[in-house]
Amino acid sequence: MPYGYEDWPRLSLESLRLGRGLNVRSFKVGSISYDFNPTGIMITGMGGSGIVGDVVRDSLQGVNVIVHKDFNIPPWVSRDSLVVAVSYSGETLETICGALEALRRGIPVIGVTTGGRLAHELEAKGAPVVKVPRSIAPRFGLPNLLYAVLGVLSHYVTIPDVNESIEIQGEVLKSQLPIKLANFIKGYVPMIFAPIGLQAVAYRFKNDLNENAKTPAVVAIVPEADHNDIVAIMLKHPVRYIIIKGRTDDIHDYLMNAVEEVVRNYSSDVEVVELKGSSRLTQEVYGSMLLGLVSLKLAELYGIDPVRTDPINTLKDRIRNLSCPG
Ligand code: PA5
Repeated sequence: MPYGYEDWPRLSLESLRLGRGLNVRSFKVGSISYDFNPTGIMITGMGGSGIVGDVVRDSLQGVNVIVHKDFNIPPWVSRDSLVVAVSYSGETLETICGALEALRRGIPVIGVTTGGRLAHELEAKGAPVVKVPRSIAPRFGLPNLLYAVLGVLSHYVTIPDVNESIEIQGEVLKSQLPIKLANFIKGYVPMIFAPIGLQAVAYRFKNDLNENAKTPAVVAIVPEADHNDIVAIMLKHPVRYIIIKGRTDDIHDYLMNAVEEVVRNYSSDVEVVELKGSSRLTQEVYGSMLLGLVSLKLAELYGIDPVRTDPINTLKDRIRNLSCPG
């Protein structure tokens, strides 16, 4: 199995341990104490690191989790919030600027990274940093970053079903679905429907298709998609429909069945992906892993290197030496 996917269970456990092992009581930056009860959690990060926030937000129902993907921390974020800054490389300017601004404003920040400038700047100020194991590229390090963040958050909130979400990974590796789905998508633009409570799976799949398979993709989140995206099925486009279904709640599960029915009325180019697992975390890990393998299979069918992301590198180089805004 390529690109380290077979290592996900081991990396998940190791990274969870790293996050849990952080002794939050031993950190203090000026008047900022890390041993507190945050009223909200903001997770910042971009791309393969940013998706960690989406998975955590979907998984921790009832916890006030906000996902942020930009340079500045919104003015309403208060000092009783916790900011978790996630950057695989530690070199992403958006994430570094957000973390530094938060600390300047007296908001506690914890970094999750392999190192780089983010680790350097946070450590120099005395802020906690969890250093995760390396992978081939940021998005391949999803288990490393995700489980380290869950480990960190376990100091503040209850994380449901972490073990199940790791156990299910072995099952994904045996699935034949990636080959089938990659062949189904090849030559088309995938349009991905998913319920709002599991939206991270759809966005992760889109990002993996973009980066690994160099393929554009459309994400349609239900119920909003029932009021716009769904109308596009009335014309025949070079699109393949993928409907991600899981268990969220009665009304959203019902709506996803209705969406499938309506799409099938217009097109036979439809595949349904049923997420496994009893919790949202497990379903999202299952879906992210399975659909990540689809993107790798598609890259193989196109004969392209999934690791190369030249335009991202070009854009990062263009902003590398800029100062943080604001
Ligand atoms: O997967 C990728 O390579 C990208 O999406 C990166 O995650 C993104 O550019 C942000 O970089 P980093 O994760 O190092 O902060």
